[in-house]
Amino acid sequence: ASIFILNGPNLNRLGTREPETYGRTTLADIEAQCRATGQRLGFDIVFRQSNAEGTLVDWIQEAGDEAQGLVINPAAYTHTSVAIHDAIRTAAIPTVEVHLSNVFSREPFRHHSYVSPVAAGVICGFGAKGYDLALEALAGMVRA
Ligand code: DQA
Repeated sequence: ASIFILNGPNLNRLGTREPETYGRTTLADIEAQCRATGQRLGFDIVFRQSNAEGTLVDWIQEAGDEAQGLVINPAAYTHTSVAIHDAIRTAAIPTVEVHLSNVFSREPFRHHSYVSPVAAGVICGFGAKGYDLALEALAGMVRA
């Protein structure tokens, strides 16, 4: 099965961006970890990051056409994007929302997600490990 793993704005800066919140793990480290876990679970992994909302919408549409599951860390667009909500709803493939940080222990504006209502589930607060947990969750939902 093919799984898209999409990452939103500023996640290209992981490793140096607010390490007290997001740790020292880089996005390249997370990609390598996802590829290893994907291989173990029998998934073909497509791993991408963009700072642009429209690009993320394009990729979610592509996932809906080509993939069997989606893992997405929409980053700040989590809290603002009706376009990403609509794209995930239309893609109609099992979707897991991931956040490195525990958004509920942070500012109130991070407590609302436009993505959660169209996700199968949400994982937050476990750092890079959350991506592995998301892939494990999809393994139980996706047909080979
Ligand atoms: C984040 C949480 C968001 O609130 C924030 O805007 C991010 C990263 C996380 O992974 O913890 O950019 O999605």
